[in-house]
Amino acid sequence: MTDQGFTAEQIDTSRPHPARMYDYYLGGRDNYEVDREAAQRVIDLFPDIVPMALGNRRFMHRAVRHLAESGIRQIIDIGTGIPTAPNTHQVAHEVSPDVRVAYVDNDPIVATYAGAHLLGRGNTGFFLGDVRDPDAILKHSTISQLIDFDQPVGLMLVALLHFVKDDEDPAGLVAAYRDALPAGSYLVLSHTTGDFHQLDGDAGQARDVYQDRGATATLTLRSHAEVLDFFDGFDLLEPGLVQPPAWRPDGPPPKPADLANVGFYAGVGIKN
Ligand SMILES: C[S@@+](CC[C@H](N)C(=O)[O-])C[C@H]1O[C@@H](n2cnc3c(N)ncnc32)[C@H](O)[C@@H]1O
Repeated sequence: MTDQGFTAEQIDTSRPHPARMYDYYLGGRDNYEVDREAAQRVIDLFPDIVPMALGNRRFMHRAVRHLAESGIRQIIDIGTGIPTAPNTHQVAHEVSPDVRVAYVDNDPIVATYAGAHLLGRGNTGFFLGDVRDPDAILKHSTISQLIDFDQPVGLMLVALLHFVKDDEDPAGLVAAYRDALPAGSYLVLSHTTGDFHQLDGDAGQARDVYQDRGATATLTLRSHAEVLDFFDGFDLLEPGLVQPPAWRPDGPPPKPADLANVGFYAGVGIKN
């Protein structure tokens, strides 16, 4: 039995799960055969996925640090992923141990590891929730305990919305969360894109692995303009919506060749 009440039998190991495939890309061990096979197929077709996943994770760290340094003391991290240190609260707590973090994911496997890695000192919480149901997330008791909607909030939708299909209205969902947040709140968002690859070859096949293998969510790549739309009502911080390694790098700026195959966009906005 896990901390969230799941038995090993309740974890679905018959279909690849995006959280566990991502864990495999990051070199983690919290995945099953079905995930490893699908993720390895993606890597074989599209080796860029590994540096892309790592670059996305590092963007997330820099963005969280920026939020904490800007005074944000409460964060909602939806699509948390399987814990991979440092997690959001660990990065934020390096700046201020007062930051409260509510983690949300719809995959029970994340819940399984949340107890050991995401919870602890009372100022973090985790619950199972689906980004496509903003009402249920925003009204959840864990959110009520941790988040004060009269104070600015950091909302993280990092490497998440590409698992929401167009007909599920991802822009409308982001707007529903945005409308619950006070001015001065932040949106941290990243998203895969096909803008840098030919999708009629291996890259397109890699994208389709999620669907072909019956993964619990499929992948929708979006253009720069489409991802930019998610920031409606937010002012983008410099340098805007860019490939993750180019978002405020903490080392030397990436060279154009380093970015040529990074099929991801990332940005941070502040609610106006
Ligand atoms: C690629 S991982 C990203 C993890 C982390 N945010 C990061 O960027 O390092 C995507 C996560 O989103 C979760 N996810 C996918 N669809 C979701 C949904 N509809 N609601 C909530 N979480 C979802 C997956 O279970 C997975 O943990």
